[in-house]
Amino acid sequence: MKILVTGGAGFIGSHLIDRLLEDGHEVICADKLVFGDKSIPHLDRRFLESGRFKLYEMELAEQKNTDKLFFENKIDAVYHMAANSDIRKGGEEPSIDFNDTFLTTRVILEGMRKFDVKNIFFASTSAVYGEMPYMELTELAGGLKPVSYYGGAKLASEALISSYVSMCNMNAVIFRFPNVIGPRLTHGVVFDFINKLQKNPRVLEILGDGKQCKPYLYVLDLVEAIAKLTKEFKPGEEIYNISVKGEGTTVTHIAEIVVDVMGLKSVKFKYTGGDRGWKGDVPQFQYDISKILSTGWKPENTSDEAVRQTVIDVLGAMR
Ligand SMILES: NC(=O)c1ccc[n+]([C@@H]2O[C@H](COP(=O)([O-])OP(=O)(O)OC[C@H]3O[C@@H](n4cnc5c(N)ncnc54)[C@H](O)[C@@H]3O)[C@@H](O)[C@H]2O)c1
Repeated sequence: MKILVTGGAGFIGSHLIDRLLEDGHEVICADKLVFGDKSIPHLDRRFLESGRFKLYEMELAEQKNTDKLFFENKIDAVYHMAANSDIRKGGEEPSIDFNDTFLTTRVILEGMRKFDVKNIFFASTSAVYGEMPYMELTELAGGLKPVSYYGGAKLASEALISSYVSMCNMNAVIFRFPNVIGPRLTHGVVFDFINKLQKNPRVLEILGDGKQCKPYLYVLDLVEAIAKLTKEFKPGEEIYNISVKGEGTTVTHIAEIVVDVMGLKSVKFKYTGGDRGWKGDVPQFQYDISKILSTGWKPENTSDEAVRQTVIDVLGAMR
């Protein structure tokens, strides 16, 4: 297939591109390079030289840019990964999520409608559920009330996708990711702890009370799930929660693992207090993943294993 990956220069998108190229697809990556890295790091030279990869540096929330992309390429499927990934920054400035998380979806769907592209895979999030700590979340949970602009923009994107599926006979697979970590990570709690400890190996500031407890999925497990559902793609619309083997892990335990892998001793944890890291953060949730497990995919790593391996990956990349 000829596949468009939006946000393909980002953390998850770059791993997905590696995998799609490995599976023999032709890939077009469209990204405004928020992190400023044109090299799409990591991409294996074999793939770059295969002639099956093309990069468009562009703002995706502009219809004329996206139309040009669809006009110049006969796209079979879109993996819409572009979004704002700095949820705290989006909390201070709602227009970031409106533009990068929601408007990009609207513009992509309009481009797909105009150029008759039928298949979309969408990177959604646990943030669409809002706060429901008292239940295991299934894809059928209703009355969703996101508590961040980011979650609101993703839920609105999901709703818009459903309407295009119905109005334009499109097909959609919506993945609701938990926290995703692994090599090439550029943000999030594991990344922050490593950076803070490199600056000050004696004291680690921890946002909240450290009891926030969530699943942390290893990025290569996630990419396996997406690759599997690409191969077994069925018409219509499906939503999948994706998560880890076993339970989530707490922020304090993440700090302990980071300290351990970095070989540090006697680090003092300084909590900022409160039950969450920032306004809009969801301190705990747990997914029911029976639907994705029924496809035959299963995660290789627990949250703790994913955290430990990610610290090794990130430190390795810094050397
Ligand atoms: N990382 C996680 O833990 C996590 C969890 C749940 C959902 N997700 C979703 O997965 C997707 C990928 O996340 P990630 O962690 O790789 O993020 P990332 O920030 O590393 O990658 C996102 C990419 O999108 C690009 N982008 C953003 N807005 C754009 C715009 N308006 N025009 C063009 N390019 C734009 C950025 O330049 C960046 O390269 C996102 O949709 C995110 O919401 C991520």
